[in-house]
Amino acid sequence: MTFEGTAQVQTGQEWIERYQGALMNTFGPPQRVLVRGEGPYVWDVDGNRYLDLLGGIAVNALGHAHPAILDAVTTQLTTLGHVSNFFTTTPQIELAEKLLELIGAEGKVFFTSSGTEANEAAFKATRRTGRTTIVAAEGSFHGRTMGSLALTSKEAYREPFEPLPGDVRWVPYGDTAALEAAVDGTVAAVLLEPIQGEAGVIDPPDDYLAAARRIATERGALLWLDEVQTGIGRTGEWFAHVPSGVTPDLVTVAKGLGGGIPIGACIALGESGTLLQPGNHGTTFGGNPVATATALAVITTIEADGLLENSRAVGERIRAGLSDHPLVADTTGRGLLVGIVLNREVSADVQKAALAAGLIINNPTPDRLRLAPPLILTAEQADGAVKTLRALLDEAGS
Ligand SMILES: Cc1ncc(COP(=O)(O)O)c(C=O)c1O
Repeated sequence: MTFEGTAQVQTGQEWIERYQGALMNTFGPPQRVLVRGEGPYVWDVDGNRYLDLLGGIAVNALGHAHPAILDAVTTQLTTLGHVSNFFTTTPQIELAEKLLELIGAEGKVFFTSSGTEANEAAFKATRRTGRTTIVAAEGSFHGRTMGSLALTSKEAYREPFEPLPGDVRWVPYGDTAALEAAVDGTVAAVLLEPIQGEAGVIDPPDDYLAAARRIATERGALLWLDEVQTGIGRTGEWFAHVPSGVTPDLVTVAKGLGGGIPIGACIALGESGTLLQPGNHGTTFGGNPVATATALAVITTIEADGLLENSRAVGERIRAGLSDHPLVADTTGRGLLVGIVLNREVSADVQKAALAAGLIINNPTPDRLRLAPPLILTAEQADGAVKTLRALLDEAGS
């Protein structure tokens, strides 16, 4: 093919046809073909600009093309791009230490390249307790690999792949009495999201995590919190469990940690840090120097630029701007993980209309919208988005 041939201008629709010819149909047809991003904005191949209020589903914590990420990636890549796990690198060690410092407890870290792999590592660690039962919550999402899928509640995701690893006991999310009844001396771990993300941004009662901690400790089980979506500043805290005051045994993170460079981590606190021993687990890419150097840059930038405070302030501003709309029954989540509960099942229509109006949002359930924008979103950008969303809700409600 000539250079002129490859450079020929193609429309988004033409690219989507090529996508459908070459990629597995696991996600359904893509909504747009995106070619560029800067700050909280992305552009499609047809030249349209969008305010990205989803941030790659809670991933682009610093927005798009942030100088700190560009610098970390290029500096590390030109210095040392990859080593085998027969060796270590300084950013890997520094990031592990930093995560433990942020979580405020002693422990050990295992790096991965995604959220589901972080959960696989934690799942394998729980097996080393000598117990096999996991208590997990209805509505949970923990990933798509076979182990994480076994712990994910949605029947439509699980059923085509059964038999999955067994011994999973399901409890309604947020129900302390159900946890009391389900967790006995055979349970290896209680696995919870501090706020359920994929289920549509579901908040548990304020005392739920503390109750889960007490119950797990009483019965000799581990408390495992999946912070893949909620961690690393998303909710206005480094970890969403911070306000509960609990110290979990296992915490899994990914998504926002690398700001778009794939990385995850299984953080095992206290004695849990020794559950996985030499030969028990491994990965080629986990802990890669480019990914870990980038994650350090993400964390440093969140600290230096006050993005935890920004996440809290801008998140509250969005909730306050939408909560009195007649179509809005409730707003949920914390910081910049925002759920908008509608009193009619029109979220798909609102999502589509938002995209046409230049806003990327998500509709996790028929009556819920989710926003997870970059933590750099300004009050002015949020106000503009709220104004557009209110107009779209007016239309959907009429
Ligand atoms: C809470 C939670 N856990 C795990 C995952 C899986 O992460 P990944 O898609 O990086 O494998 C997700 C992804 O949405 C998630 O929200």
